Amino acid sequence: MKTTVVRAQYKTKDGNELTKAAICLADGGLVAFPTETVYGLGADALNAEAAKRIYEAKGRPSDNPLIVHIAKVEDMDKIAHVNEMATVLAQAFWPGPLTIVLPKKDIVPYGTTGGLDTVAIRMPSHPVALRLIEESGVLVAAPSANTSGRPSPTKADHVVEDMTGKIDYIIDGGEVGIGIESTIVDVSGEIPTILRPGFITKKMLEDVIGPVMIDPALEKPLDGFRPKAPGMKYTHYAPKGELTLVESDADDTEAVVRQIIQLAKEKREAGFRVGIMAPEGTLSQYQGVADVVLCVGNRDEQSTVAAHLYGALRDFDTENVDYIYAESFRGDGLSYAIMNRLLKAAGQRVMKV
Ligand code: TXA
Ligand code: MG
Repeated sequence: MKTTVVRAQYKTKDGNELTKAAICLADGGLVAFPTETVYGLGADALNAEAAKRIYEAKGRPSDNPLIVHIAKVEDMDKIAHVNEMATVLAQAFWPGPLTIVLPKKDIVPYGTTGGLDTVAIRMPSHPVALRLIEESGVLVAAPSANTSGRPSPTKADHVVEDMTGKIDYIIDGGEVGIGIESTIVDVSGEIPTILRPGFITKKMLEDVIGPVMIDPALEKPLDGFRPKAPGMKYTHYAPKGELTLVESDADDTEAVVRQIIQLAKEKREAGFRVGIMAPEGTLSQYQGVADVVLCVGNRDEQSTVAAHLYGALRDFDTENVDYIYAESFRGDGLSYAIMNRLLKAAGQRVMKV
């Protein structure tokens, strides 16, 4: 299959190319596009055949449901039994990085929801995403546009890497702003529950709708709890090299740095290629210690860490490192979402000093 890469300079004549992609999407094709969180891989959500092609292109297990992207809040009613809480959340956070899970209507094929009776819905805020959905005239099922198991794409090059030859169009809208996937909140039951943490934090949700739970499986991933978002059970976001997080309960950064330097030395002496991922504050202390040292933003501005995380993990793949060491990012708010992704990327491997 030929994959066409088009640029999304939405106010210029290139708009024509986005229109071609939109028509292709409406005809059952696969189109990757930028959103404010990560790049998505879109197909017509109400066309079971089209949705099936997403699973093939990604190599994704078919029990892992897709998020349906809409461009108008009213479209939520077409596909879901909407309740008061969902309406309030949509009003507060859409368009934006929040996905709302509701009981689905019959019109949504089980092929899109992975066999579930609920459907996950999100209205993205990225202008290219909104325009593509609007122009296509369809509701767009879109997982992150990576090969299943790899870190989510935060720029078009990442999608080109994973999807060339497998999909019809890639719309290049530059680097995304947020860098980690949307917060998922399930409001189909009694108590609203966060199934995946993201840029919209628990506190932000609670300010709007009152008490919110976190899916217990997110807190205790190794204790046999089954996450309610099927996708959260896979050890994805993982780089090829083995990632270990190093942390200190006493907040002893010096000790963490010393430990990482020690671990890196040992592995290099044993002949392995080693990567270190560090925030700006400690970065200089690692220079020369590993084969590849990557900066992952500024600890005091968590949004910069979110924005660089997946790109860094992919760069370690490109550099073929065998072992990666990273400082951990415990905390509330966005740190909680960052740490959720890091722990998954590390297969929960954490070393305490
Ligand atoms: O930010 C995002 O949400 C990005 C962009 C492209 O919008 N999309 C994304 O999709 O991250 P994906 O497929 O990579 O992750 C969707 C997650 C999976 O963990 C899946 O199991 C969960 O959402 N999910 C989808 N529908 C669900 C449902 N009905 N109930 C529970 N979890 C659901
Ligand atoms: Mg994904």
